[in-house]
Amino acid sequence: MDHLNNQSPVDLAVNIGGIQLANPVMTASGTFGYGREFAQFVNLDAIGGIVVKGISIEPRAGNPPQRIVETPCGMLNAIGLENVGLERFIAQKLPYLRSIKCRVVVNILGDSVEEYAYLAEKLSEHAGIDGLEVNISCPNVKKGGVAFGTNPAMAQAVTEAVKKHSTLPVIVKLSPNVTDIAAMAKAVEAGGADAISLINTLIGMAIDIDKRRPRLANIIGGLSGPAIKPIALRMVWQVANAVSIPVIGIGGIGTTEDALEFLIAGATAVQIGTANFYDPGAADTIISGLTTYLEQHNETSLINLIGSLDTGVLS
Ligand SMILES: Cc1cc2nc3c(=O)[nH]c(=O)nc-3n(C[C@H](O)[C@H](O)[C@H](O)COP(=O)(O)O)c2cc1C
Repeated sequence: MDHLNNQSPVDLAVNIGGIQLANPVMTASGTFGYGREFAQFVNLDAIGGIVVKGISIEPRAGNPPQRIVETPCGMLNAIGLENVGLERFIAQKLPYLRSIKCRVVVNILGDSVEEYAYLAEKLSEHAGIDGLEVNISCPNVKKGGVAFGTNPAMAQAVTEAVKKHSTLPVIVKLSPNVTDIAAMAKAVEAGGADAISLINTLIGMAIDIDKRRPRLANIIGGLSGPAIKPIALRMVWQVANAVSIPVIGIGGIGTTEDALEFLIAGATAVQIGTANFYDPGAADTIISGLTTYLEQHNETSLINLIGSLDTGVLS
């Protein structure tokens, strides 16, 4: 018996489009550095997966300060996709990521379809990467700056290009700044995505009324944290009902209860973002919380929970 080994009989394992995770708790891109930064707060061997900060071909310095503003139950950021670039990521960050047990997903960003394809091809050549997450909330410079993530045809094209140039499972991360999230999800599924993650940040702004100036140097920024959770949950539920590939829920998740809501809505896994800033041990807490919940509800496998939402009329 598992009990005799002092192990829980509960099975938390899930599969995300070919990436086998020990449990459904991942950390979201841009909120967990390159993993090592959080080693003193979280047992990196125990979490399901880490999604590293978005990587571009060349290093990016990001936007000037002020880049972060606190808002009621959330934060606005306009970091501007600062990152070390492909070469330094492979040379300086990947060796450490190879040494930890959890799955490693590399988030990629580009200004053209070709840039995404190049990143996918280069990253596929290196051991220690379990999957790619494609951030499509970036402007397509060649097509006049329209974000890939707001146009279904462009989202499909970038997905197809990444799939064609990569041997790794491909997760496409959707932007919530669209009218019809299900249409975006269907487009990337048609493009060959192995899984979908959502949501990225919602676009917002804040003003200093004494200076009558924007609080962010970039004027507008991405809203994240508990404030966006109901929107994220609604979108995850809509997408999970629209596609047949696995969905990863992101947006304001900071507690076990939050994670459970997303799983019940249809997410196969969740990512913890802003919560890592105010509760760096959140991922650990949520993993043990999920085990406790399943034990208390006499469930042996987390899979039984996924999409178990009952929307029928109450009798
Ligand atoms: C400071 C910061 C940096 C982020 N950087 C990235 C990034 O590089 N790539 C990306 O796809 N998402 C990025 N995100 C979005 C998060 O991964 C996540 O989708 C979003 O914050 C919503 O989740 P949350 O409410 O749990 O934070 C960033 C978010 C924050 C707050």
